[in-house]
Amino acid sequence: MAEEIEFAQKFSEQIEKAKEQKVRIVIKEQYKEAFEILEDCESAGLIPGIIGPPGVGKTLILRAYAERSGRDFAWITGDEGVRPSHLVGSFNPAIVLRKGFSLESFDPGPLLKSMVFGRVFGLNEGNRLPEYVQNSLLEPFEERTLHVQRLGRIQANDDFFPVLTMNPEEMAGAHRLSEALRDRIRVWIRIGYPRKETELEIVRMNCPEYTISDGVMDKIYDLVSSTRSSTDIEVPGSIRAGISIARLAAQMAKRKNEEQISHSTLSTAATYVLTGALRFRPGIDPEPAVNALIRRTLAS
Ligand SMILES: Nc1ncnc2c1ncn2[C@@H]1O[C@H](COP(=O)(O)OP(=O)(O)OP(=O)(O)O)[C@@H](O)[C@H]1O
Ligand SMILES: [Mg+2]
Repeated sequence: MAEEIEFAQKFSEQIEKAKEQKVRIVIKEQYKEAFEILEDCESAGLIPGIIGPPGVGKTLILRAYAERSGRDFAWITGDEGVRPSHLVGSFNPAIVLRKGFSLESFDPGPLLKSMVFGRVFGLNEGNRLPEYVQNSLLEPFEERTLHVQRLGRIQANDDFFPVLTMNPEEMAGAHRLSEALRDRIRVWIRIGYPRKETELEIVRMNCPEYTISDGVMDKIYDLVSSTRSSTDIEVPGSIRAGISIARLAAQMAKRKNEEQISHSTLSTAATYVLTGALRFRPGIDPEPAVNALIRRTLAS
C-alpha cells in the first residue's frame, strides 16, 4: 500500500515535470520552411504529410508546432497491430456491465481526444497501418467528423490538426500508403539531412552540458555523413546517431579526465553508437564494416 501512495505522488510530480519541458529546436532553413507550410496548411484547411528519413526531426517539428500554437500534441505510430479502437477508444467491459454503453464506460483514444480537445495529431508511419485502419481515418481527415459506435457522431474542434509523417517510400522496408489515405493528404513536405552547419548546431543544442571542440564536431559529422553516401548501407546514421556519438564521447572524455576528446575515445564512442544505428545491405557483415568505416573516416 505504501508503495502505491508513493507511486501516486511521484506520478503527479513527473506529470508536472513533463509540462515544464520546453521543446528545444533549431528553426532555420528546411525546419523554418516546414513550420511555415504547416501554418499555411492549417489556415487553408489542408492536411500535410511530412516525409523524411528516420531521425531528421519530423516529430520534433510537430511537437514545436503544437507548443507554439498553445496546444497539446498527441501521436501514434502505425504498425500492423494497431486497430481502429486504439485510435478512437473502446468501452471498458467491466464498467459497461454496471453502467451500460455510455460515455462513462468509454476510454477515449488519442484520435478522438485530439478531435474533441483540438490537438495537433501526429500519425507516424501511417503507411504501416493495415489498410482497413488507414480507411478508418478517411472520415476524420476528410470530413472532420468521427462516428463513435453507440455514442454518436462528433464534429472535430476547430483546432484539431492531423499531420502524417513517414519515411520515403524508396527506403527499404517502407510500406505503401493506401491510395485512399494518400488522396486525403494534400501537401507533402520533404525534410532531408540538414546542411553541415545546421546539423552540428542541432547536435550542440542536444549536448548543452558538454564543451566539444569544432575539430571533434567536424569528425562526428564526417562519421555520420559518410554513412549516408555508402551504397552498402540501407539505413544510414541519423541526427540521433551524431547526438549520441557526441554525448557518449564527451562523457567518456570527462570520466577519463581528457582535456579534449581524444582520437581513441571518439573512435570507441562511435563504435558503440554506430554498431546498432546503421542497417547494412543483406550479405554485409556489420561489425567489420563499422570498424572499417570509422578507421577510414577518422584517419583522414
Ligand atoms: N531542428 C532540430 N533542432 C533540434 N533538435 C533536432 C532538430 N531536428 C532533429 N533534432 C533531434 O534529432 C532527434 C530526432 O528527431 P525526431 O525524433 O523528431 O526525428 P524523426 O524524423 O521524427 O525520426 P523517426 O523517423 O525515427 O520518427 C531528436 O533527438 C531531436 O531532438
Ligand atoms: Mg518521429
